Amino acid sequence: MAPAIELDDPTDFGERDYATALVNVTNACNLECSHCFVFRADNPNLPRDKMDDATMLHQLRELRDKHNIKSMLFMGGEPMIRKDLVMEATKLFEIPAIVTNAFYGIPTLPGGLVTVSLDGPEDLNDSIRGKGVFQKVKEEIAKRNMSDGTTVMLQMTVTAQNEQGMEDFVAQVADWPVNGVAFTLYVPRENDDTGLGWDDLRDRDKVIDRLIALKQKYPNVVKSHVGTLELMKSDRCMEFTGERGENCLMMATLPLYMGDGGSFERTFCCYGNDVDCTRCGAYSVFNTAYHRQVKGEKDYHHRTRHMGHTAQTAQPG
Ligand SMILES: C[S@@+](CC[C@H](N)C(=O)[O-])C[C@H]1O[C@@H](n2cnc3c(N)ncnc32)[C@H](O)[C@@H]1O
Ligand code: SF4
Ligand code: SF4
Repeated sequence: MAPAIELDDPTDFGERDYATALVNVTNACNLECSHCFVFRADNPNLPRDKMDDATMLHQLRELRDKHNIKSMLFMGGEPMIRKDLVMEATKLFEIPAIVTNAFYGIPTLPGGLVTVSLDGPEDLNDSIRGKGVFQKVKEEIAKRNMSDGTTVMLQMTVTAQNEQGMEDFVAQVADWPVNGVAFTLYVPRENDDTGLGWDDLRDRDKVIDRLIALKQKYPNVVKSHVGTLELMKSDRCMEFTGERGENCLMMATLPLYMGDGGSFERTFCCYGNDVDCTRCGAYSVFNTAYHRQVKGEKDYHHRTRHMGHTAQTAQPG
């Protein structure tokens, strides 16, 4: 009989429970989006660092059992570059979710959530994600079977570069075969000089007001909660982030990045190591706070949080 292959055990992330986690199954990506936090200098993100499928399945199972992880978001890089692995690994978790750029098709995940990133109408999206990307995503979405049990959401990450396209975007995608459109706002790095963020958060407030108006105009398409958007305004946002994440409920999520030599490494938060919490626009941070603190839902289990997060708004409550 052939000897059983010994698979490496995961990195030790301490003893605490993490009901929610995310995993970068690969650092490889077919796109180079201008706003992407994954490829910032301070993050573990080298494409050569790989973990083979059997080891990853073993380590995810071990981490699930050790930390009581219920909900896992599959991310990258582009996770669907490792489609077979991802589809196998989703079976390990009660609440799986995938966030993807849709280049390798829209995965079928009955009972689960697939978030498809698209950052505005064609011209703006393609200036961020690359030429031809909007049409490619549109084609992939058109192919999907709406009755396959998967919740598919479009997600626009709003920056100062594409905010002018929010209204056109919703008008263009309102009749696409998806379950809704979600918005999240740019998460900058410290001393961010990219021009993608808002120096004065009162300028970001104007964007949030426009999102509230969009929600009112398209209540069944736009899945954002008005109550959550209100918490993102400049007069309240720090209550839910803190200077350095001390008020952030997403710090209870375990971020598994692919680190040196292909072992899992955790970063400061889901958005990596170099983040400016005082300007964090992650919708999920505020949505979790809205459900837990404002609505008092103690056991609110945000289905997806963070980058693929916004789909939680597709769920009742
Ligand atoms: C990092 S990508 C990984 C998955 C996949 N490659 C994709 O693009 O969907 C996950 C999500 O994070 C968003 N994102 C990237 N950089 C961001 C930033 N600086 N702030 C907020 N969201 C960001 C992307 O737009 C995307 O919706
Ligand atoms: S946002 Fe997604 S598709 Fe774009 S570069 Fe980052 S990982 Fe790749
Ligand atoms: S998710 Fe939380 S910890 Fe990360 S940047 Fe936003 S506020 Fe800071």
